[in-house]
Amino acid sequence: MLKGKHIILGITGSIAAYKAAVLCRLLVREGAEVRVVMTPLAKQFITPLTMATLSKHPILVEFFNPENGEWNSHVSLGEWADCLLIAPATANTLAKMVHGIADNLLLTTYLSARSAVAVAPAMDLDMYAHPATQRNLDELRSRGVAVVEPAEGELASGLSGKGRMSEPEDIVRFVDALLSEKKKSLSGKRYVVTAGATIEAIDPVRFISNHSTGKMGYAIASALAARGASVTLVSGRTTLPVPAGVERLDVLSADEMYRATVEAFADADGAVMCAAVADYTPAEVADRKLKKSDDDMVIRLRRTRDIAAELGRTKGGRILVGFALETDNEAANAADKLRRKNFDFVVLNSLRDAGAGFRGDTNKITLIDHAGEEPLPLMSKSEAAERIVDKIENITTARA
Ligand code: CTP
Repeated sequence: MLKGKHIILGITGSIAAYKAAVLCRLLVREGAEVRVVMTPLAKQFITPLTMATLSKHPILVEFFNPENGEWNSHVSLGEWADCLLIAPATANTLAKMVHGIADNLLLTTYLSARSAVAVAPAMDLDMYAHPATQRNLDELRSRGVAVVEPAEGELASGLSGKGRMSEPEDIVRFVDALLSEKKKSLSGKRYVVTAGATIEAIDPVRFISNHSTGKMGYAIASALAARGASVTLVSGRTTLPVPAGVERLDVLSADEMYRATVEAFADADGAVMCAAVADYTPAEVADRKLKKSDDDMVIRLRRTRDIAAELGRTKGGRILVGFALETDNEAANAADKLRRKNFDFVVLNSLRDAGAGFRGDTNKITLIDHAGEEPLPLMSKSEAAERIVDKIENITTARA
């Protein structure tokens, strides 16, 4: 996707610098040529040797090489680049960018760059929320700097909140969208994505759930957002960080997911139903912890409401994508779901395929619509998400 693109990866002194190694590898794997510029403090967090090896070029820190006096020209670097990506970007570097302070090679490169500029902030939650940082980010945005929103989650300080650098996969997708034509293909569109497992309480301690991790749904939400769509991610419990540019609504039970999704769908252009929603929930939820006895226990379950079927009933000309996870008669069962729930297409995972389904980072999917089946090879969940979003994009264009 980034084949032949010239990217300067700027690394500043944040603990998230360790993620820059993975980021660099992913950029190179996507075909980009990467030159790494580090601030002097960044070297304390990740070694130049690591970054030079991964980027396949010597890293740049100083204005000149003290051994032979050779200049590292920030001007020609700035001209060479298609994108200057600063990841992680500390509060300090963001503030210096705003004020044009030029006290290291990365900042002079920023001031000389004619390319697209993106920053992925990484800092503690209070530093991120501070009005000084927020004003600096607003100022940079108003100058056309693209900001890869930090995620919410566990921070190095031990606190939890917004400030954690976006995951490398999300940053790569962001940069790809920034540099590619695909960038605005879904802008102005609103999508709802359901993801993860629901949790049905038995009592205050126990619940019924399933193995879904939410990875596939999160990858789809991220891919939609990267193409400019506004995305509401209705998410069951997961440990995944919120993808860049996505609004997440946290829910627990199938009933909560039903209400949140139906409401969000009211003004949406489409929905992708990726969640593993419980089909049954305990008929009564005990308000105190159930004590064991010597007898067996029977829990009576009642049916939950089908969210996808409800959206299928009200969708009109909007796009609705369903998932089917099957172990037998895969294609026939998936085609049946396509009709019953009024999906535009169904993404079939077969649990019989190695590398497909729950937990892993790969998936093997077949896209099934009214015209037929399109089996895809084993691929990463983020690539699978791109293929699903390609199909959504094609349907959107055909209906425009
Ligand atoms: N779905 C939903 N709400 C539910 C149940 C399922 O939105 N209460 C959605 C899922 O997100 C998925 C599709 O419907 O997109 C799956 O269909 P479903 O019939 O529930 O699949 P299974 O539970 O696997 O069905 P079955 O037990 O009939 O095989």
